[in-house]
Amino acid sequence: MNFKQFIVQELDVKSIYHLLISGISPRPIALVGSLDKNRISNLAPFSFFNAFGANPPIIGFSPAISGRTGLPKDTLLNIKDTKEFTVSIVNSNIVEQISLSSCEFDRNIDEFIKTGLTKYKSKNISAYGVKESNFIMECKLYDIIELGGKPASGNLILGEVLRFHINEEILTDTNQIDPYKLDPIARNGGSWYTNAKKGLFELKKPQNIGIGFDQLPDYILNSCLTGNQLAKLASVEFIPSFKDNNEYAINSKDELLKLIKNKIDNNCIDEAWQLILYLGNF
Ligand SMILES: Cc1cc2nc3c(=O)[nH]c(=O)nc-3n(C[C@H](O)[C@H](O)[C@H](O)COP(=O)(O)O)c2cc1C
Repeated sequence: MNFKQFIVQELDVKSIYHLLISGISPRPIALVGSLDKNRISNLAPFSFFNAFGANPPIIGFSPAISGRTGLPKDTLLNIKDTKEFTVSIVNSNIVEQISLSSCEFDRNIDEFIKTGLTKYKSKNISAYGVKESNFIMECKLYDIIELGGKPASGNLILGEVLRFHINEEILTDTNQIDPYKLDPIARNGGSWYTNAKKGLFELKKPQNIGIGFDQLPDYILNSCLTGNQLAKLASVEFIPSFKDNNEYAINSKDELLKLIKNKIDNNCIDEAWQLILYLGNF
């Protein structure tokens, strides 16, 4: 067997990043909740994440300095200010919402509103967890280790877990976590993710900043669409205009909704939006 070697000094940062995220995978995903000084909530996913000790219980994750803008991420700024955060573990029911939460929304935007995820009140700290997660940790800041201070450099945030909140439905009679019910999603390289139960799948990151759940029409927000389906609709940069030359041989709203779900599941988001706009005039 031959190994191809890649010498770090001869690689650009992007290539190093891709080697790291493709080789060190699948990585668990921390959905980190924090508050800024004005108590505006922030939510963002981080897969440079793990646990590092149980006594005291220390977890760590690493928001990088943006390789594109050279600026620190809101999560880092918030935790430097408030010294606390929550980590909610990501499951398959919310993975599209998590992807939407990774859009670079302005600092004064509350990503709970943009992603439709529900705030779960903490007991020891002020930052919120995510109610749709099965496993939430309240953490106080233990340390921040700057790992370079340059674009794409990490900032290892270590937190001490003060309290675990675990959905009772995923616990066995002896308070063990049922791994099937935890249903964790992990991150691989490129646009690959791992569903612990089903294996690898691809999920493309939104190209731009998505409109968010707050811009979805009420009749679709309150329909039978799932959070993941709504998140795909909310990931578009703007709502397309209705092409009223579309002809649909559809007799009922239920039939139309079924077709919309089908289009979303097959990633035909433009077509889904046309059907939604048609539904609005039905
Ligand atoms: C699944 C997933 C994992 C991510 N992991 C990281 C990570 O470990 N470190 C990082 O800096 N950015 C990571 N990102 C990108 C951030 O979530 C993204 O930059 C986000 O906008 C940061 O938000 P903030 O500025 O509100 O903190 C990840 C994105 C996704 C979708």
